[in-house]
Amino acid sequence: MTTTRTPTKHFAPLAIGAPEPYRALPVRLERMIHFIPPHNEKIRAKLKDTIKTVDVVLGNLEDAIAVGEKEEARAGFISMAREFDFGQTGLWTRINCLNSPWALDDVTEIVAAAGDKLDVIMLPKVEGPWDIHYLDQLLAQLEARNKVQKPILIHAILETAEGVKNVEAIAAASPRMHGMSLGPADLAASRGMKTTRVGGGHPDYGVLADAGAHKSAPRAFFQQDLWHYTVGKMVDACLSYGLKPFYGPFGDFSDSAACEAQFRNAFLQGCLGAWSLHPSQIDIAKRVFSPDVAEVAFAKRILNAMPDGTGAVMLDGKMQDDATWKQAKVIVDLAKIVASKDAERGAAYGL
Ligand code: GLV
Ligand code: MG
Repeated sequence: MTTTRTPTKHFAPLAIGAPEPYRALPVRLERMIHFIPPHNEKIRAKLKDTIKTVDVVLGNLEDAIAVGEKEEARAGFISMAREFDFGQTGLWTRINCLNSPWALDDVTEIVAAAGDKLDVIMLPKVEGPWDIHYLDQLLAQLEARNKVQKPILIHAILETAEGVKNVEAIAAASPRMHGMSLGPADLAASRGMKTTRVGGGHPDYGVLADAGAHKSAPRAFFQQDLWHYTVGKMVDACLSYGLKPFYGPFGDFSDSAACEAQFRNAFLQGCLGAWSLHPSQIDIAKRVFSPDVAEVAFAKRILNAMPDGTGAVMLDGKMQDDATWKQAKVIVDLAKIVASKDAERGAAYGL
């Protein structure tokens, strides 16, 4: 027995009058999802400049917003969504989780007041496809009622053991799915991992070099990436369904080197961006999630050497074939998107 809709129904709007779901995601640059508390006046006062600096602005309504400030944060988000022109910069919100007292009002009020401005709803603590189905249906009804013109997408946070177990079904749940982010703090708690850090490594998680014959000699210890398994699993689930995978938050703002290393591991594994919780992380994300200039130059040489993408050629002693052509295309396509938003990097890429 199959539990998914037929291909025809998969792409049918879930409410009469709701916009057609996308068949392919809109092309957007999303190197960092920049979190702001939307009720904070000081931060809102700087928003005009922030919009120019970041790829995505996210008004956070969930964790880190105190219980007594939930309504204020929601109202703050609605007024900033209406007040500002976001241009090419994405406008997202992270709503409260579905079993909370605020989720229903978060969705209904925001779609009613700013549905046409909103690109993506980030849904926390997604456990399985049922969470996506619920929000999918609700959004379709609200889009229809409020005459929203384009579908509002859903981005799931992967931050419970059950969610990780069901990651493929979550990815497959709806054409409204935009992608997923790793939520290392909640995930660590849900799994009973022994770390209190928000993302990043742990000094005790590593591999000890073999002792060899001299058991008393000093042995090298190599710290490993605690999140490697989950990021890999998330990347496979996302890319199988044409969705975008993201690394989530890095909580130690005083350690930019560790933040950069964590973001880079995720980038190399296939992620397209990460969250910036502090302004200092915006540039780190730009550096990491924009492809390397030398890598772009080499990728352009591969594409030029194999105009139809087939066969085999040697470049600097390295074999290139149909598969490396596809790898090169991923990098050049990403560089072109970066160039369209970031003139300085575009010039460095020669694009
Ligand atoms: C993010 O929401 C996390 O829990 O890490
Ligand atoms: Mg969380």
